[in-house]
Amino acid sequence: MAESMKGMHRTHRCTEVTDAQIGSTVTVMGWVQKRRNLGSLIFVDLRDRTGILQIVFDTNDIGEAGFEKAGTLRSEYVVAITGKVTEREGAVNESLKTGRLEVRATTLRILSEALTPPFPIEEDSQTKDELRLKYRYLDLRRPDLQRNLMLRSRVAMKVRSYMESQGFLEIETPMLNKSTPEGARDYLVPSRVHPGSFYALPQSPQLFKQLLMCSGYDRYFQIARCFRDEDLRADRQPEFTQIDMELSFVDEEDVMAVNEGLLKEIFAEVGVDVQLPIQRMTYREAMERFGSDKPDNRFGMELVNVTSIVKDCGFGVFSGAVKAGGSVRGINAGGQGAMPRKKIDALVEFARGYGAKGLAYLCINEDGTVKSSFAKFLSESELDGLIRAMDGHPGDLLLFAADRDSIVFDVLGGLRLHLAEQMGLLDKNVYSFLWITEFPLLEWSEEQNRFVAKHHPFTMPMEEDLDKLDTDPGAVRARAYDIVLNGTEIGGGSIRIHQDHIQEKMFQVLGFTKEAAYEQFGFLMDAFKYGVPPHGGLAYGLDRLIMLMAKEDSIREVIAFPKVKDASCLMTEAPSPVDQKQLEELQISVARKEDGQ
Ligand code: AMO
Ligand code: AMP
Repeated sequence: MAESMKGMHRTHRCTEVTDAQIGSTVTVMGWVQKRRNLGSLIFVDLRDRTGILQIVFDTNDIGEAGFEKAGTLRSEYVVAITGKVTEREGAVNESLKTGRLEVRATTLRILSEALTPPFPIEEDSQTKDELRLKYRYLDLRRPDLQRNLMLRSRVAMKVRSYMESQGFLEIETPMLNKSTPEGARDYLVPSRVHPGSFYALPQSPQLFKQLLMCSGYDRYFQIARCFRDEDLRADRQPEFTQIDMELSFVDEEDVMAVNEGLLKEIFAEVGVDVQLPIQRMTYREAMERFGSDKPDNRFGMELVNVTSIVKDCGFGVFSGAVKAGGSVRGINAGGQGAMPRKKIDALVEFARGYGAKGLAYLCINEDGTVKSSFAKFLSESELDGLIRAMDGHPGDLLLFAADRDSIVFDVLGGLRLHLAEQMGLLDKNVYSFLWITEFPLLEWSEEQNRFVAKHHPFTMPMEEDLDKLDTDPGAVRARAYDIVLNGTEIGGGSIRIHQDHIQEKMFQVLGFTKEAAYEQFGFLMDAFKYGVPPHGGLAYGLDRLIMLMAKEDSIREVIAFPKVKDASCLMTEAPSPVDQKQLEELQISVARKEDGQ
C-alpha cells in the first residue's frame, strides 16, 4: 500500500551520496531499479535521474517487519529510505559513481507501487520505438534519455547566459498569428470569435523579430517553438525549437562572429573545442564538391566533373546527357573495387531513389583490369583519362551519374553519404562545422510555375547581383548563410531587405501583385516606412544541435514528447476528433468521406 512521505525529507539524490557522508544518516527517494534477495540480506538498486545507489536491508538494521517489507519491493516502486552510509562490504562497482558505497536502511516507506513496466527501464533500449513512445513517461526514465534532456537543459541555460553577455534581450513573440503564404504548410487554429477565420501557429518568429528591430530592440533572441506541417524525417518534427536571433546595424561578419562565439560556448558543454574561425564555403562550391548544400566534410569522396572527358564518348548515356545540357560526374569509393555485383545493384537502386535513371560503375581490379557497365564503349585514352581524373587506383570503385546537374548532385551527394555510412567513415566524435554562403536567392518551383524564395522573401540579394533580378532571377545570389555540422543544417539566416524598392522588386519577382504583397505582409511593409535599421539574423534548430551533441541519430531522442512520422503523438493520441459542440462553436463542419469515395 502506498504510504505518505510525511515527516520525511529527501536529503540527497542517489549520486549526491559521497564518501563524505560515510558514517552519517541520509534519506534518499527514488525508483527501485532492481531487487536481489540473498537470504539474510536484500539488495536494492535505487535509481533517480542522477544514477544508482545500492541499498542494503538487514534485519539487524531495519528489524523483521522492515526486512519483510523490503522483500515485497518490485521494479519501479517508488520508495523513501533512511539509512546509514557505509563503505561497501562486497565488491566495489567501478562503473557506478556510488560504487564504493551503500546505504544500510533503517526505514523504508513504499511511496507508490508499480505495475510491471511493458519494457525494461535500461540504457540502450532494444524496445520498439512505437512501444517506447506509447509509454514515453517510462521511456523518459531511461538513463540515456535523461542524459539527453539534462544536456538540453544545460545548453539552453548556456545559450541564455551567452546571449545576455552579448547584449541580447529575450523577447517572446505570439503563437497565434496571421497565416502567410511562402514557406511550409501552416498549422491553423480556428477562431471562435471570428468564425471562418484562422490563426496560424508560427513557422518561425521571422516577421516579429524584424519588427522588433524596427522598434529598436537591436539585439533580440528567443528560444522559440516553431510549427511546420511538413513530411517528417529523422531530423524534422512538426513542432521544434529554434534558438532565434536578430541583430541591427550588422552585416554577415557580425552575425557570424556572434554565432561562432555561441557555438564555441555551447559545444564546450560536451567537451568539444570548436576551432574558430569556422570554415566557409560558397553554395556553388559545396554543390560542385559534395553534391549538397549541407556537406558532411568529415570525409572526402568528393564529386569529380568528368563531363569534358566523356562528352564525345561512345557511351550514349554519358554523351547524350552532355548533349542535353547536363553533366557527368563521379565519386571514387576508395577500396570498394571488390564490391559484389549484388551490392553494386543495390547502389544503383539507391541512386534511382534520388531520381537517377541509372548509375554507371567501374571497378578497378587489383591487376589493373576493369569490370564496368560502360568501359567497353570508351576508347583506351578516354578510359585512361577518366580513371586518372577520378584518381582511380587498383581496388577502387568508381560510380558515375549522367543527367541534369540538379539530379547528378542529388544522386551523388546522397550516394556519397550512403557509402560513407557503409564504409564506417562517419565518426560521431568528430564535429566538423561549415558556413555555407552565397545561396541562390530564388529557386524555380515546377509545381507553382514561378520563382519562390529559397530562404524567405525578406532575404537581401547580393549587391553585385541586384541588376540580374530583372534579367536572370535564378542567378541572383542571396546574403544568406547556413551553418552546417557533420552534414546537418543546424542553422540558417540572412541579412534582410530593409529598403522598400528592393522589397517591392522581390515581391514582383515572386509573382505577387502589389496588392497581394500588401494583403499578406502589409504590416511589415508599413513598419519599414517608419525608419528601419539594416538588420540580419539567424536561427538554429535546437533539437538538431542537441541530437548531434548527444550523438543521436534522431531528434526524437532529445525531445521529451515527440511526434511520430504521421505527426501523431502515440501517448496522448493527438490529433483526435473533437466534440460536435466544439465544432459548432467554431462554426466548423467536417466533411466526412463517404465509403468508397
Ligand atoms: P530555417 O527555416 O532555415 O530558418 O530554420 C532554422 C533552423 O531550424 C531547424 N529546423 C527544424 N528542426 C526540426 N524540425 C523541423 N521541421 C525544422 N525546420 C527547421 C533547422 C534550420 O536550420 N526564420 C529563419 C531564420 C532566419 O532567417 O533568421 C528560419 O526559420 O536546423
Ligand atoms: P542502359 O543503357 O539503361 O542499359 O544502362 C547502361 C548502364 O548505364 C547501366 O549500368 C545503367 O545503370 C547506367 N546508366 C543508365 N542511365 C544512367 C545515368 N543517367 N547516369 C549514369 N549511369 C546510367
